[in-house]
Amino acid sequence: MEDIVDDTPFWSVLKLTFSDQSTDSEFVFTCRQRRFIVRLAVENLAASPQLREKYLFLLDVAEHVELDGYTVDDLYDWVAEPMLPIFRQLSPRNHIGSTLDDFLFPETQVYEVLADGDKMVAIQQQEAEDIPKVFGVSFPEHTEFTPWPVFAPSEIRTSNEQIGAGPSHAPRKVFLNDGTAAYLKLIPPGDDSILLHEIETYRQIHAARLDKGLRISRLIGLVGSRETQDVALHGQDVTVTIYGLLLTYIDCGHKTLLCAVKPETPEHLRAQWATQFGHALAQLHAAGLVWGDAKPDNVLVDRHGDAWIIDFGGEYTEGWVERGVAGTREGDVQALGRITEFIRTAKEPTSI
Ligand SMILES: Nc1ncnc2c1ncn2[C@@H]1O[C@H](COP(=O)(O)OP(=O)(O)O)[C@@H](O)[C@H]1O
Ligand SMILES: [Mg+2]
Repeated sequence: MEDIVDDTPFWSVLKLTFSDQSTDSEFVFTCRQRRFIVRLAVENLAASPQLREKYLFLLDVAEHVELDGYTVDDLYDWVAEPMLPIFRQLSPRNHIGSTLDDFLFPETQVYEVLADGDKMVAIQQQEAEDIPKVFGVSFPEHTEFTPWPVFAPSEIRTSNEQIGAGPSHAPRKVFLNDGTAAYLKLIPPGDDSILLHEIETYRQIHAARLDKGLRISRLIGLVGSRETQDVALHGQDVTVTIYGLLLTYIDCGHKTLLCAVKPETPEHLRAQWATQFGHALAQLHAAGLVWGDAKPDNVLVDRHGDAWIIDFGGEYTEGWVERGVAGTREGDVQALGRITEFIRTAKEPTSI
C-alpha cells in the first residue's frame, strides 16, 4: 500500500468566541506564524441542512466541553477543514531572530466559512480591522508595575523549543536581551483582576526578601506596550497593555505534581516532594503570604526532581480548598493536608 503523506502543517486554535445569544462564532487559527480569523454563522450554512445541524451540534459540544464523546477539538477539526488548502500553501517561516512582536502582532487574514451545497468553503474577507485581541489586558497609563521593568514585545526573543508533550504555537520559553531565559505566562483578555492579584503577590514576595534558594516562581518583568487611542471629546487616551508575565524559568517540561505522582512513584521521591513544597509553603506563610490556588497542578517538578510552587493568580479550586477559606492561610493549610495525602496515595480527593 502506498503511504499517504499528510502535508498539512501544524495548526492550532488560539481562541474561540461564541455566545449563547446567537449562533455566530469566531475562531483564531494560527499556522506557520500567520493568524487566521475564521467566522461562522448558522445563516451562512442555510444551503445545507446537514452542515447546519452539524454546526449547531458542535457548538453545543463546545459549550458543554464534552458531549456524546465529542470535544471542542472536533469542532476545531471541522471548521479547519475548508482552511486546510490555505494552510498547505503557506511557506515555512524561520524562527531565528523572532521576537514576541512576531507572535503577538502577526500577519492576519480574515475568512468567512459558507456552505456551497454540502461542502464548506472559506472565503477571504477584505476587512483587516476589528481583529480580536488574543492576549493582553489594558490599564490606565499611570498604573504602577514597580519594581519590575515592562519590556516591549520586540525586546523579547522567542525560541522554537517545545516544552512538554504535543506541539504548541504559543512561545513559552523566551529570552531577555541579556540572555536570561524566562517562562512567558500569557494573559488572556478579561483576566485583569487575576493579573493584578498575581502582580501584587509577587510584589509581596519581592518585599519579603525570601531566601533566594526557595523553590517558588518569581516575577522577572512584564511584557507590555503603550497604546494611544483617539477618544471622542477628550482627545487621546493612553493605556498600557500587558501581554504576559516573565517568570523564573523552571525546567520542568510542563510536569506538574498532578501528573508526576503515580502509584509506582518511589517512596523517596514522594517524601522529597512533600518536604520541599511543604517547606516552601511554610516560608511563604512565615513571611505573611498566601499561595491561594493551592493544588498539585500548581506545583512543578523540574528535571532534577525538585518541587516548585507556582501560580499566585489567586482564585481557588474546589476539592483542594473549600470556598469559605479560599485565599487565606487556612485555605493553604487545608490544601497542604490534601496535597500531602495525594502524594502519599496518588488519589485525588473524592469531591473533585
Ligand atoms: N515559572 C514557570 N516555569 C516553567 N513553566 C511554568 C512556569 N509557570 C507556569 N508554567 C507552566 O504553565 C502552566 C500553567 O501555569 P499557571 O501559573 O498555573 O497558570 P494558570 O494561572 O493558567 O493556572 C504550568 O502547569 C506549567 O506547565
Ligand atoms: Mg495554575
